[in-house]
Amino acid sequence: MLTCQKELFRIEEGVHFLNCAYLGPIARRVEEAGVEGLRRKRCPTEFPTTSFFDDCERLRARFATLVAGRPERVAIIPSVSYAIATAARNIEVSPWQNIVVLGEQFPSNVYSWRRLQRDVGFELRTVDRPGPAPAGLLWNERILESIDADTAVVTLPPTHWTDGTRFDLVAIGARARAVGAALLVDASQSLGAVPFEMEAVTPDLVVAAGYKWLLGPYSMSLAHFGPRFDGGVPLEETWIARHGSRDFQTLVDYVDEYIDGAVRYDVGERANFIQVPMMIEALDMILDWQPERIQGYNASLLGDLAAELRSLGWPIEEEAWRSGHILGVGLPEGMDLKELDERLVEARVYASLRGQSRRISPHVYNDSDDIAALRAVLLAG
Ligand SMILES: Cc1ncc(COP(=O)(O)O)c(C=O)c1O
Repeated sequence: MLTCQKELFRIEEGVHFLNCAYLGPIARRVEEAGVEGLRRKRCPTEFPTTSFFDDCERLRARFATLVAGRPERVAIIPSVSYAIATAARNIEVSPWQNIVVLGEQFPSNVYSWRRLQRDVGFELRTVDRPGPAPAGLLWNERILESIDADTAVVTLPPTHWTDGTRFDLVAIGARARAVGAALLVDASQSLGAVPFEMEAVTPDLVVAAGYKWLLGPYSMSLAHFGPRFDGGVPLEETWIARHGSRDFQTLVDYVDEYIDGAVRYDVGERANFIQVPMMIEALDMILDWQPERIQGYNASLLGDLAAELRSLGWPIEEEAWRSGHILGVGLPEGMDLKELDERLVEARVYASLRGQSRRISPHVYNDSDDIAALRAVLLAG
């Protein structure tokens, strides 16, 4: 069982930060790696050309371990929207087909599909939440029903960003495969805090923003592209994704072929000397703690509060259909939201309002005192 890791972070005493789903704090060692990266460029005498490659390969290897994938299939990108735009560019969708998304899905996994829909004219099939919590079981059933022989793409998260509703990607993946649809997974709100079942899910893409549950810097995301995207066209034509790019003497002997795998999908200037070392440190911590144990730790922090609020009749998802690290607390009718916010601020409890839910999202730097502070505010009204 994992213990509280607060001493590895610089979270102010008296602050109850329960908002990792918004922004993950960076640990001391991650911060130090970033500062070191900044310092190295003061006077760039210590920059062999291998600096543009070696850390990137280390980073790919870490992410591949986390998703149980392959390093050469990992692309280093700035955002989830970048990965989704890359996927949208490389998937053929006919006007008579459909693409399945969820209601209130994070916009980075919606806008590329809306653009493609305007250009091509297919159905963008949105599977809405069937009603207030608990609705996870029915929502999952509706998703499976919505995938049919005309589905070209199913693109969704394992955990809903607004309230932590869990989606059964193994069942959804099997259904998508059965009809020949691509399965794209935005795991920004779960990867790192939940084990990823690559073999059972077999997604064509899994992408995660680095700055939330991966506890990395902002402006860095990682994506694992499956064989469906082999031979695809990237958003940018970078020099570094070509065969022979390690030899800086021959860069103008232009080579049209890309290195195999997903390196072609890397963003330009992917070898960010500040961000890449930070992300490596952050992933090393996560791999050391292990997502399964992180999930267990967060679930045990939230479990009693969730059960208590449910027993009081607050709309909260059933345990089987919510993830252990994000708790969407539906607020009882008549509760004054403004007043609740003021009390949270006063108690220095940080959590987000997402839709109709208050979203509570702890990580390994939290402990039972943080949950007690939150409970006191929620139940004071
Ligand atoms: C589910 C999900 N995906 C993606 C993102 C971030 O997307 P992007 O990297 O495109 O800014 C967020 C941010 O809150 C999110 O909750």
